[in-house]
Amino acid sequence: MKKRVGLLLAIMTAFVMLVMPLGNTTHAQAADNSLEKIQKKGVLVMGTSPDYPPYEFQATVNGKSTVVGMDVQIGKKVAKDLGVKLKIKSMSFDSLLVALQTGKVDMIISGMNPTPARRKNVSFTHTYYQGGYDIVINKTDKAKYKNKDSFGGGTLGAQTGTTQYNAAKSQTKNTTVKGMTSQSDLILALQSHKLDGVAMEKPSAEAYVSNNKQLAAIPSDFNMSSSATSSAIAFRKGSTSLVNKVNKTVDQIKKENLVKKDYLPAAGKYLKTNTVNTSMTHYWKAFLTGIEYTLIITVCSVFFGFIIGIILALARMARGNFFKNLLRWVATAYVEFIRGTPMMVQVMFVYFGLGLFVNLPALTSGIIAISLNSGAYVAEYIRGGINSVDVGQTEAARSLGMSNGKTMRYVILPQALKNIWPSLGNEFITLIKDSSIVSIIGVTELIYQSNIVRSDTYRGVAPIVVIMVLYFILTFTASRILNYFERKMQHA
Ligand code: ARG
Repeated sequence: MKKRVGLLLAIMTAFVMLVMPLGNTTHAQAADNSLEKIQKKGVLVMGTSPDYPPYEFQATVNGKSTVVGMDVQIGKKVAKDLGVKLKIKSMSFDSLLVALQTGKVDMIISGMNPTPARRKNVSFTHTYYQGGYDIVINKTDKAKYKNKDSFGGGTLGAQTGTTQYNAAKSQTKNTTVKGMTSQSDLILALQSHKLDGVAMEKPSAEAYVSNNKQLAAIPSDFNMSSSATSSAIAFRKGSTSLVNKVNKTVDQIKKENLVKKDYLPAAGKYLKTNTVNTSMTHYWKAFLTGIEYTLIITVCSVFFGFIIGIILALARMARGNFFKNLLRWVATAYVEFIRGTPMMVQVMFVYFGLGLFVNLPALTSGIIAISLNSGAYVAEYIRGGINSVDVGQTEAARSLGMSNGKTMRYVILPQALKNIWPSLGNEFITLIKDSSIVSIIGVTELIYQSNIVRSDTYRGVAPIVVIMVLYFILTFTASRILNYFERKMQHA
């Protein structure tokens, strides 16, 4: 038994050692042809987290939910000056830096401060905007809170991965600091009194307050360096030629004061108009798109997960010689490793980690990660199903001269699948719900769409209720269909 555990640990250690150097493969080690590469590609991919008005946020433009804001205007000007097209990729703020380092995006324009810690891993342009930090509170608490020091014994929220989150952690006393991925979730938590305040940049605080009459903004009085209150564009470390070129655009934006004269007023118009129709029925297209992507991810993951599950189940039952024993150990190590690591980490590893070698779209990465995860669980269902078939079936088939392979394929597997149909059905329904995990890499399934609707309408709870009902309709319908086929199989 000790030998087996040792071999299992050796296989898993080898896998981790193989993966470890991935994080050190940065584009900075390549010669700097960054400007030439972008102009040759013809497209500049901008990473942003569109929950931070007026920098970047969702608004309905010509009936379509679109990313708008001053950073988008800056991205468009940068792309125009480079003579390339702009493509915007939305994701959570704390995924942006890893997306840049793994080549998922070419630049980050997301109200990002060029702090010394970030400069170690990315190259920044000159700053294009100088802000400062406020704390958004419920207006009814205006008499209670004056600045960051008023929250002793209370809870202050800030977006994870941001400067304000670090400032709140280091510059408040006796205050619980709650980090959340989405700015919209923070505002929702504030409105439902789960938080006493939310720290963010002044322009963003003003935007949320102008769209939510029950909110107010107070000065944070955070002690911040100028790099922590300004915004700049981030490129991969060592992209000197590209940064130098884009600096010309940034310098022109500052010289002509385009942010204050043009970009902020334009963003403000969207802030006023985008709450024209905030009824959930107005966003039926967004929810329908979410359902479409949820079903695509689920059906593909169930199909590929089932194939992976059969292969793993048979591998885990291999015996007889060194090769078959090794196959069994590798399959066992895979199943234990996948079942022992969170699906969120697996999704991020496939999208960002494998992204160092092959540039997989977010949807493909999500389907691969969920299929690999589901395969490990389906393998156990199938193995249990095979073991549940009476051994007499194998003996009878073998006595008729059927080979092991034919016995498994024509006698054992069909009976095993009939026995595990309810487990496979549960796996399908679980995947409908688990598919929401890919929203962290920007796949536009139901949760992602609800975040868009929330930041578009500034309504927190309504979109959540809508997707709860939609998920229930999907899972309930799926379970009815699966039960129908299960009854048919029982009578077959
Ligand atoms: N300026 C802060 C930082 O760089 C927060 C930026 C948040 N941006 C966003 N789009 N959510 O850490």
